[in-house]
Amino acid sequence: MRRALVAANWKMNLDLPQMRAWVAAARAELTGTLAVDVVVCPPFPYLFPMAKALAECAIRLGAQDAYHETSGAFTGEVSAVMVRETGAAYVILGHSERRHTIGHLEDDRMVNLKLRAVQSVGMTPILCVGETLAQRKASQTLDVLSFQLSAGLSGVRVSSGEQLVIAYEPVWAIGTGLNATAAQAQEAHAHLRAELTRLIGREPAAQVRIIYGGSLKPENANELMGQADVDGGLVGGASLKAETFTRIVRVVSQSG
Ligand code: 13P
Repeated sequence: MRRALVAANWKMNLDLPQMRAWVAAARAELTGTLAVDVVVCPPFPYLFPMAKALAECAIRLGAQDAYHETSGAFTGEVSAVMVRETGAAYVILGHSERRHTIGHLEDDRMVNLKLRAVQSVGMTPILCVGETLAQRKASQTLDVLSFQLSAGLSGVRVSSGEQLVIAYEPVWAIGTGLNATAAQAQEAHAHLRAELTRLIGREPAAQVRIIYGGSLKPENANELMGQADVDGGLVGGASLKAETFTRIVRVVSQSG
């Protein structure tokens, strides 16, 4: 039985007072024992203040990226060790906004190097994979997922479900208001789990959470979370308001 995970990816949004207000509201809303792991991922400069704001709180901290080198002449980069020092436990890697945006254009090899670096310092990578609309229309979805997964995990060992989270994020669903249907999500997640089984072995593959991202909202969460291989969500736009995000957490918690 996998414990669901819901992560807020704030991307490059909110300011410090807004983030503090968000944490206060989310803490008040998510009282008692949660049936889900909840993670919030602010931009780099806010990791330390958010770690402080989240003290003695069940919500965990995550980062939106980390560089693969430990230290050195890499202007503008932030290493996995530096991220870990803030208290972050999770790192989003290979997000489509980093794979496809001019100025980043991260390839699978870079994602793989980053993933290894994050794991090597004891944090949990949230590896994002997903097809573009053109790839879906060309019936390439499952091949794209297989490739991104195996390239991202090249040379990586996973012995328990704590060491890895996969996020299925169809690129055409991100920030568009269009979400994958429950059937589309389940097909992709089941495929990813089958591929994971091949790559890391049956037992760890059965434990790894595969979460869905792409216009996830309180209104569509129930249907998506009802799928056997959908183990939570990675929430962008709907995570910016604590009230909306905690509603999603409640839906996920109740569907478990
Ligand atoms: P939206 O929820 O805004 O579609 O973003 C999803 C996402 O990219 C989460 O990482």
